[in-house]
Amino acid sequence: MRHKILFVCLGNICRSPLAEGILRNKALDHGLDIEVDSCGTAGYHIGEQPDPRSIAKAKEYGIDISMLRGRKFSKSDFDTFDRILVMDKSNYADVIDLAKDSNHQSKVEMVLNIGQKSNYLNVPDPYYGGEDGFQEVYDLLDKACDLIIEQCKNGNI
Ligand code: 4NP
Repeated sequence: MRHKILFVCLGNICRSPLAEGILRNKALDHGLDIEVDSCGTAGYHIGEQPDPRSIAKAKEYGIDISMLRGRKFSKSDFDTFDRILVMDKSNYADVIDLAKDSNHQSKVEMVLNIGQKSNYLNVPDPYYGGEDGFQEVYDLLDKACDLIIEQCKNGNI
């Protein structure tokens, strides 16, 4: 079964493209058929490359995200994807607002809630901070993606 997973943040230039690159790489390593994409709830960076700090962080780990381009979340994403994984509470509220029914609502999860008992922790927005923020984001997303891979392997999603 092909898994279709969408990561969502605000601008689609820092957190969600990094998540997309990390999960795509892990899926390849594990021979899993996962369609991965990312987008933002805002349209500030449509058509732009990821933030250079995210590109550099991914590159440190052998992952190329330089070809990704920003796009905005669309209602049709609820039909295209099985899981819509958001970075923070604000993204969650924005995406849930656009859901037309409980089936669509049920696809939306906070990425750090995976494998947890609903802690509702945010992946912090690193945009206005320093380089350390990007390492923290990478580490959080790397762990979350390991859990996603485990779930895909076990047929839990
Ligand atoms: P992201 O970070 O949501 O992780 O892509 C941000 C990128 C840009 C802006 C805010 C957050 N911005 O305000 O332009």
